[in-house]
This record gives sequence, structure tokens and C-alpha cells, in this order.
Amino acid sequence: MNRQADGLLGVALGRPSGAPWVLVTGGKGGVGKSTVALNLAAALAQGGRRVLLVDLDLGLGNLHVMLGLESPRTLEDFLAGDRELDDCILEAGANLDLLPAANGSHELARPDSARRRRLVEALEALAEHYDVLVADAPAGIGPDTLAFAARADVALCVTTPDPTALTDAYGVIKALDLWSKERNLSLPTPELVVNLAASLEEAEALHRRLSGVCERFLARRPRLGAWLPRSRDVEQSVLLQAPLVRAQPASLASRAIVRLADRLLAILPGVDQRPRRQAQPA
Ligand SMILES: Nc1ncnc2c1ncn2[C@@H]1O[C@H](COP(=O)(O)OP(=O)(O)O)[C@@H](O)[C@H]1O
Ligand SMILES: [Mg+2]
Repeated sequence: MNRQADGLLGVALGRPSGAPWVLVTGGKGGVGKSTVALNLAAALAQGGRRVLLVDLDLGLGNLHVMLGLESPRTLEDFLAGDRELDDCILEAGANLDLLPAANGSHELARPDSARRRRLVEALEALAEHYDVLVADAPAGIGPDTLAFAARADVALCVTTPDPTALTDAYGVIKALDLWSKERNLSLPTPELVVNLAASLEEAEALHRRLSGVCERFLARRPRLGAWLPRSRDVEQSVLLQAPLVRAQPASLASRAIVRLADRLLAILPGVDQRPRRQAQPA
């Protein structure tokens, strides 16, 4: 397996006491990973948790655009050694901070293992100041995603009903599973988020199919974390450059994300014991 990812294991195995990490991943581009990561982070923040949202889509970051923010300093500046990590933080609303990634920059889009280790260590230190860290991964399984998965308390795998997206979602779960077995790591089984589903029934049917295959070949049973309908509200929130859960809290997709956030709070280590901050008015 990848030597770059290997370099991080020392850090990843440490399991320090800071905020828990949620990794949002998925096999394909365009399936809704950033939409889910952004809105999950915003929902947790609205619930009074202090959240750090991290854009791991290095070189193609778009969370700052979805939030209507300029990103004068990015994770790439930190990786280049030009900035401290906390200099790159943007305020993205009550209880919500963003570490943006550059968009359209090739440089450092694939950091080497030493730089990646430095990033994980710096995030670990920053996480002390937050209740939850939510990371938006690039499509597929690269060394960055593996490194963060090794540290994650919960991983979400976003897919759509498109057969190729579903196949790629299985590919991600399988790659994570193989990687963890090779290293005797106990990685959490990713939860499935079915986006652009026509109905709960369709989402449940897709979940049954995928989890059946996972159970048979990997001895893992991913649960259905959430399903989101195709929704004009989601498209509009992107145009408005505001998270859906803020702009349209009553939307079906918002309510699905808030339910997911509430359940994660119950299972993420230590979060429910932390005091809540002032919740943001809806
Ligand atoms: N449930 C949804 N309904 C309608 N449009 C959606 C939905 N989820 C995502 N989209 C749209 O699909 C596009 C890709 O979503 P994005 O979250 O950026 O995907 P990814 O991060 O996986 O590449 C965006 O334009 C987004 O607004
Ligand atoms: Mg994305």
C-alpha cells in the first residue's frame, strides 16, 4: 500500500484526546460530498457545537465558494510552509470555522508524506479548540483520504443511485477495509449517504444492495447514515452561497442532514459531554 499514507500511521495511531473527526468521502466527483460535508458542519454548528470544516480537496477546493467567502490563505499555504495553520482559518458563521483549499492550483495538490504528517499534526493541535472536525475529501481513495480515515471516528461514504457511483462507493469501502486489515487498524465502517434519491424506498434498496455486497466480501455492514432527495433547494443554496440548513432549514434535505448530525453527536466520543455554545438562530 501507499508509502505516503504509511508515513502517517504514527500520528494516526496516537488517537489524541481532541475533538472527534468526521470524514466525508465518496468514490466519484459530483455525488454531493461537499454538499453533505458543508451542511453537516453547519447543522452541528447550529446545534451549538464548535465545528472546524476542513477542505481536503487540495487544488480543487470549493467549500469557501459554497460559503461565499474569499480565501486569501489556504491549506496549500500551510503545506508550502508559508503560513501557520490557524492563519488560514476563515470564520464561516456562528460556531463554524473553515480551513479552505486553493482552487486551480497544482502546486501541493498532492503533498508528500512529510507535509501531510505536518498537516495532520497541526489539525490535531487545532482540534483541541473545537467540538467536532468535519473533513471534505476528494473523490476516491488517495493517500490524504487514507491518512484522515485512519484518524476518523466516523466516515461517511456519499453515493447516488447511479450504478457507477455505487460501484465506486463500494471501491472506497473496500480500499479502506483492505488498507486497515493490512495494518491491523480498526477503521470505522463508513456509513452510506445516498444522495439524489427519488425516495426513502430507493435509498433503502440501494443500501441493502451495497451492504449485502460489503457483508459478503468484507464482513462489514455499512449502515444507511442518511438519504437526500434531489432538491432545487440544494441547487439554490449553492447559488445563494449559503448552507442549505441555514437558508432552508425546513427543506427535506436539511432535515435529513440535521437528523444525521443529531445521531452523530450521540455516537461521537465525548461530544455530548461538552457544553453547548450559543446556538445560531435558524
Ligand atoms: N440533493 C441534491 N439535489 C440537487 N442538487 C444537488 C444535490 N446534492 C448535490 N447537488 C449538486 O450537485 C453538484 C455537485 O455537488 P458537490 O457536493 O459539489 O459534489 P462532490 O463534492 O461530490 O463533487 C453541486 O452543484 C450541487 O449543488
Ligand atoms: Mg467536493
